[in-house]
Amino acid sequence: MPITRGEIVRGDRSVFPPYLYSAYRSSLRRAPGLPLVEVPLTLSELTGPGPALSALTAEDADLTRNAGSGGEALGQRIIVTGRVLDAKGSPIPHTLIEVWQANAAGRYRHKTDQWPGPLDPNFLGFGRCLTDDLGRYRFLTIRPGAYPWKNHPNAWRPAHIHFSLFGPGWNSRLITQMYFEGDVLLGLDPILNALPTAQARQRLMAAYAHEVTEPEWALGWRWDMVLNGERATPFEDPREV
Ligand SMILES: [Fe+2]
Repeated sequence: MPITRGEIVRGDRSVFPPYLYSAYRSSLRRAPGLPLVEVPLTLSELTGPGPALSALTAEDADLTRNAGSGGEALGQRIIVTGRVLDAKGSPIPHTLIEVWQANAAGRYRHKTDQWPGPLDPNFLGFGRCLTDDLGRYRFLTIRPGAYPWKNHPNAWRPAHIHFSLFGPGWNSRLITQMYFEGDVLLGLDPILNALPTAQARQRLMAAYAHEVTEPEWALGWRWDMVLNGERATPFEDPREV
């Protein structure tokens, strides 16, 4: 029996969003209309992001200064840190993490983002780092602003940071979004609400962490990613970013 559109899900139904969630309008076009076809993998998918790893520098994890402009990004400085863990809570070291986000005014430096929020010449909105031996990552950035999108009338996305994790091969990539606990827009967001349970949504919330906060410098937020198991972080279709 072919799988119908409404039945197609990724991973664990209790954690992952369905392909099709009608309140998230783009999913109507993106959801597969036919059964999925398994494509045999070739060397180009099975080998890893080697060149990206060798080009990595410590400055890549500082989004406040990595725009190549010599200046510092405007906005509230924040430190975002946490761990990448497996189902048993063991750390996943040497994982390439990439992040991208809007600037403090909620604007991406991208040609398709044309709403009248100001661009910041000192903010590129992209960073990356490797997890250390204990699976830890750390970014210095600015708190992203909310931004409007045309999903429905007066639609605004809550502040969020996109995360991508690379496994040992290009094909083992996971993508998700981190939100800020307490954001008033969280309950209005169809992308977040596509997740099937409150527990799954909670796993995408960074928590304010005073021990991470640095005096007179930056506020600290902590967020762990769990790759699988009962506490798995919900990940999404790469085409949704
Ligand atoms: Fe976004």
